[in-house]
Amino acid sequence: MLIKKPDLIPSSEITPESVYLQRRHFMRGIGGLIAGGMTGLAHAVPAYPLDADLPQYPGPKWLQPKLRSSERHTGYSTSEEPAPYFNAITHNNFYEFGTAKKNPAKYAENFKTDPWKVEIAGAVNKPGVYNLEDVIKPHMLEERIYRLRCVEAWSMVIPWIGVPLASVLQAFEPTSKAKYVAFTTLLDPEQMPGQRSYFSTIRWPYVEGLRLDEAMHPLTLLAVGLYGNALPPQNGAPIRLVVPWKYGFKSIKSIVRISLEEEMPPTSWNLTAPNEYGFYANVNPEVDHPRWSQASERRLPSSLFDPNRIETTMFNGYAEEVASLYKGMDLTKWF
Ligand code: MTE
Repeated sequence: MLIKKPDLIPSSEITPESVYLQRRHFMRGIGGLIAGGMTGLAHAVPAYPLDADLPQYPGPKWLQPKLRSSERHTGYSTSEEPAPYFNAITHNNFYEFGTAKKNPAKYAENFKTDPWKVEIAGAVNKPGVYNLEDVIKPHMLEERIYRLRCVEAWSMVIPWIGVPLASVLQAFEPTSKAKYVAFTTLLDPEQMPGQRSYFSTIRWPYVEGLRLDEAMHPLTLLAVGLYGNALPPQNGAPIRLVVPWKYGFKSIKSIVRISLEEEMPPTSWNLTAPNEYGFYANVNPEVDHPRWSQASERRLPSSLFDPNRIETTMFNGYAEEVASLYKGMDLTKWF
């Protein structure tokens, strides 16, 4: 993303990587569990062998039984091995909690995510401010194992748990005026040190958007969990978007507002640097970012000696499912 001055968090407060690494245990069994689960019909999500010394997140009471009965969705997952839990919860972009990758795990630790309300607004028949519980409860939770490709050219495979965004939107009855969906993250400078930073390049709150057909695509997920548990605060608890064929910055975290719009809504990184970040932000190895190539990516976990660099694929490997959404569009112009 943008290179910027570090925010107000002193570097002395950031846990050194070596400390994390000492705690780290790879979850060797996870690949087998996932591969085994891919062949069956939908069934309860298996418990992931998570590192005992890393925090886990049970989530609010109403979510716990739903998480336990979430179903493994066979259609849209990948058999690639998920990143170790350690990487997923300690290598984050969540600028509200600092710009360094390890800042969110540290500074979002006490982020209050329950109770949580979500406003549904704009071109819908049932607008209102709803308890998150009432937005999620009517729907079956599914596990989706997706590749997440950041525009910074790193990637991870993450087992999410969530609800297709389409199911949630349909429940509020979009009207014929709805052409786009706009999302907003919580604005709370008291809890979010990044929103208090004088050096921030982002105008808060963080906002994102999708075209309605992208929002309604079956791959598009509203996630409430990962690795069998609720979302950790640093990953966007209690509810975030996951759009696996787009650069990670489209997958907005800690959503408080979803609005159906007639016009293309503004998006945070596009407002910050329009020549670098477009509205569509589809993963595309042929369209480089002005400051770096997008032809390949570092698949986490990776290290100096084993960078694990792989070729980036069109639409992050989801071309078969989504390429038709962009038929006839010049993707160098609509990047
Ligand atoms: N959402 C908000 N509100 N603020 C952010 O800074 N960062 C985005 C996205 N969602 C971000 C956000 C970026 S750049 C990425 S790559 C993903 O979150 C990272 O998700 P992860 O930390 O769960 O891997």
